[in-house]
Amino acid sequence: MERIAVGMLGLGNVGSGVAHLLGQCGDRIAVRSGKRVDLKWAVVRDPAKSRDVDLAGVRLVTDARRVIEDPEVGVVIEAMGGTDPALSLILEALAAGKDVVTANKALLAEHGPQVFAQARKYGRAIAFEGSVGGGIPIIQALGVSLAANQVQSLAAIVNGTCNFILSAMTQDGLTYDVALRQAQELGYAEADPTLDVDGSDTAHKLAILAQLAFGASVKTAQIAREGIDRLQLADLKYAAELGYAIKLLALAKLSDSGLELRVAPTLVKKGTPLAEVRGPYNAIRVVGDAVGDTFFYGRGAGMMPTASAVVGDLIDVVVGRAALTSRALNLWPEAAPAPRLSSA
Ligand code: NAP
Ligand code: HSE
Repeated sequence: MERIAVGMLGLGNVGSGVAHLLGQCGDRIAVRSGKRVDLKWAVVRDPAKSRDVDLAGVRLVTDARRVIEDPEVGVVIEAMGGTDPALSLILEALAAGKDVVTANKALLAEHGPQVFAQARKYGRAIAFEGSVGGGIPIIQALGVSLAANQVQSLAAIVNGTCNFILSAMTQDGLTYDVALRQAQELGYAEADPTLDVDGSDTAHKLAILAQLAFGASVKTAQIAREGIDRLQLADLKYAAELGYAIKLLALAKLSDSGLELRVAPTLVKKGTPLAEVRGPYNAIRVVGDAVGDTFFYGRGAGMMPTASAVVGDLIDVVVGRAALTSRALNLWPEAAPAPRLSSA
């Protein structure tokens, strides 16, 4: 049976989940793809750190170049986070003929054009299902299954940390600080949790959704955003008394005046699907001109939901489907016209 060697950059929450899941589903991948996926390398900062995952046969190193220069490696999974050195490593991996799987929304939102140009130049695939909505297959849905539609609007809860904090404050009576600490301990939050609570992570995800749903190449800085870091417990209580939940929403709406994009804590009527999304769960409502109203729901953050998306991408790469989709979707094209953004 053909063997595909994989190198993983990062072995934190996401990387450990991927290593664990690959251990569990390796036989299933082999049956479905006729190929055996072998996690050969994991790149970390501190190889001496104790890690709660079986790493038998995996070479733990600090030098990512050893992975990129290994001719046996066919796929690089980037689960390191941030842009430095993740961006240059992804560009080098593509240039070295590796396909890339990443869940790094900050990197794609800020450097999507450069990353996809490099993938096109070297004829490689980039798969990024884990970058938005954790385990919810929203990238596949917007990029492929709903591709016949002109999306008209999106309303989404796409930050598990914020939704966890808001739920914990309203239902469990936790303070903001305690709830945030729990979200960090549970592996939902970013390494720098400011990105979660100030709305930046949601804006990164909205930039990716805007590319898929509207073909709009938008920089995060162009998205008006507000986080949950300035909300008071009293705001949540008064909203509840009036029959509303406050949710951090990513909103996109196409109208005659252009595309409106924003991230904001929003009053959502209790009893409606978005208002009932609790804890680290995410939900994305997409309205398309042909399909009408659709709703995607699932665990949006954490080790195993994200690993589910990343390993799904890996299977897509291994069976050759990711390369076809990457080519066909032509995401973040170099000569993209600037989107007409509306501030309405
Ligand atoms: P994390 O727990 O902080 O893990 C980062 C890993 O990368 C660690 O293993 C760390 O090594 C390694 N690393 C970081 N910088 C490095 C460097 N310069 N050289 C070598 N190794 C380095 O982060 P995470 O939560 O897994 O998130 C990883 C990525 O997935 C981020 O882009 C994040 O936005 C994205 N993501 C996360 C989630 C989630 O729920 N956590 C969900 C979706 C997407 P050490 O272990 O030695 O420190
Ligand atoms: N920090 C992110 C969140 C991880 O809480 O949603 C998933 O992208």
